[in-house]
Amino acid sequence: MAPGANLVGIAGGDRLLDGVHLRRHGRDEQPRELPDEGLVAVLLQKRGCVEGGHARIMTDACLRELAARISTAGRVTVMTGAGISAASGVPTFRGPGGLWRSFQPSELATPQAFARDTLLVWEWYSWRREMVVACRPNAAHDVLARWSRRDGVRLITQNVDDLHTRAGARHVVRLHGSLWELRCFTGCPAGSRPWRDERVPLPRLPPLCPHCGGHARPAVVWFGEALAHGDLEQALAATRCDVFLSVGTSAVVHPAAGLMHEARAHGAWTVEINPEATEASPDVHLTVRGLAEEVLPAIELAMR
Ligand code: APR
Repeated sequence: MAPGANLVGIAGGDRLLDGVHLRRHGRDEQPRELPDEGLVAVLLQKRGCVEGGHARIMTDACLRELAARISTAGRVTVMTGAGISAASGVPTFRGPGGLWRSFQPSELATPQAFARDTLLVWEWYSWRREMVVACRPNAAHDVLARWSRRDGVRLITQNVDDLHTRAGARHVVRLHGSLWELRCFTGCPAGSRPWRDERVPLPRLPPLCPHCGGHARPAVVWFGEALAHGDLEQALAATRCDVFLSVGTSAVVHPAAGLMHEARAHGAWTVEINPEATEASPDVHLTVRGLAEEVLPAIELAMR
């Protein structure tokens, strides 16, 4: 495989048969019907050659290569987005049925929106807490929880649902905070350190800061806000790795979306797992078009 060339793969069932046109060696080529041996297959893709839709299947050989690279790498960093929790029933943000399809981020996920209508914002977060408390980690969370116990594995998430932690994952860097943590909105010194409150429903909306009596806010990172210094530092340090996996993110929100590029610049082999093309797809070494809850267990199986 030429360095820098991109691989594309698909995982899982009858979705394998979506058609693509390839331009390779200067001619159009209809995708071949490949036997469904193994889970996924790879089409060699030079940048800009593949047009319209998903690529075809990847052989077991390539799944083994992916597994071998992950198991032999000294440092593996995995960054996840909303897509990893989709199979648990947590809506994504921008996909079909995504939160931002029915709600305005400017009305619900900014400090200005909170100041403008504190109750509205808290009703929305309370609704999300009620939804997420009923969800369970899925097979993708479980695989990453097991991997997180291995030296050299770093897990970064943009998700605020804490399903990685509930799956038993260790040292999860939560870039965007947690639905289950609150902090003081007025910023009183004692209340600026987040406290955990998992009560559903919360006894009072809006909840109050136990230190100053002012409004408490969800300890999540809203649009226009900086990430917690420590979290961003840890995430940037984790881009110094051998393999960087980007799982279930549309790669549009920065600085999280920049981490893959940082890792690639540090020489990491970069992989995307997502059923859809994303902003990052042209820039990763391998794109696996598949569902996290199918692809990650398949990789783990191939690592045995
Ligand atoms: N497995 C893998 N990926 C999936 C799956 C799945 N089962 N289902 C959906 N996806 C992919 C979608 O194709 C999409 O590319 O997950 C991605 C989800 O993208 P977004 O909804 O944009 O979520 P995310 O990238 O995590 O958003 C980043 O934006 O709104 C803010 O703070 C919020 O953390 C969030 C940030």
